[in-house]
Amino acid sequence: MSKLKIIYVWEIPVRVTHWVNVLAMITLVCTGLFIGHPFSIGQSASSFTMGWVRFVHFTAAYVFAIGLAVRVYWSFAGNKYSNWKAFFPFLTQDGRDKLMATFKYYTFVNRKLPHVVGHNPVASAAYFLAFLLYLGMIVTGFTLYSEHAPGGMMHKLLGWITHIFSNQSLRLMHHSFMWLLVGFIINHVYSCWLMDIKERGGIISSMFSGYKSMEEE
Ligand code: HEM
Ligand code: HEM
Repeated sequence: MSKLKIIYVWEIPVRVTHWVNVLAMITLVCTGLFIGHPFSIGQSASSFTMGWVRFVHFTAAYVFAIGLAVRVYWSFAGNKYSNWKAFFPFLTQDGRDKLMATFKYYTFVNRKLPHVVGHNPVASAAYFLAFLLYLGMIVTGFTLYSEHAPGGMMHKLLGWITHIFSNQSLRLMHHSFMWLLVGFIINHVYSCWLMDIKERGGIISSMFSGYKSMEEE
């Protein structure tokens, strides 16, 4: 029987930003759906439902953006598993081989999973796309938000985007990116669950504790 090795993979900033972003995103999806399709409109100045929903959306938006900024910083300051290079598996031959092997596993062509400690290469490529979507949400969201104060600092920074895309196009993009992210989340939770069962390395608990277990060789 081979021995199990315990490896510290996810440092505190990776775990904290992951779960903070999960909570922020759940809040943003729920409040965003309400903003896009309000089912309660205030009849008087004292019924401020819409205002509160927007306030919660914008607060979660700042938390979400700060979480992303911290994670980007950590991809330069953290260990090799959280490094930015991990999100570009196709840069090295070994990465390309493992990417292909994992892809074959996911598409039922091969039964064997390649041995990886950090993110598997298909997952890290998906995370890179998810990070691009995060950026899309932040740019479209803050551009829409900046319109409340024309002439303000945020509007000076992002106002030019409104000359390229109309207000409604920005809303449509913001809304569509959300559904792409929801698709990513469904696939992500399913894949993590699958890998937890198949690899038996405690991948889900690793996002809480930081540790994964692997067979010695
Ligand atoms: C994952 C992150 C996010 C999700 C899922 C999300 C979702 C949504 C959705 C579904 C809407 C309604 C769009 C419509 O149909 O008209 C919305 C509106 C809005 N969101 Fe977000 N959002 C996110 C991040 C952000 C960020 C980072 C900001 C930055 C401040 C932001 C600012 C806004 C603004 C200003 C509106 C209102 C647009 C209007 O006035 O109608 N959102 N959001
Ligand atoms: C809003 C929902 C979620 C989003 C947007 C999301 C996004 C992400 C992202 C971007 C990463 C890469 C982490 C990094 O390197 O910084 C990641 C990793 C991970 N997430 Fe999530 N996540 C979500 C929910 C969950 C849930 C509910 C679970 C638990 C079942 C989970 C478990 C994990 C695990 C185990 C990893 C590491 C997996 C690996 O090695 O590839 N996530 N997630």
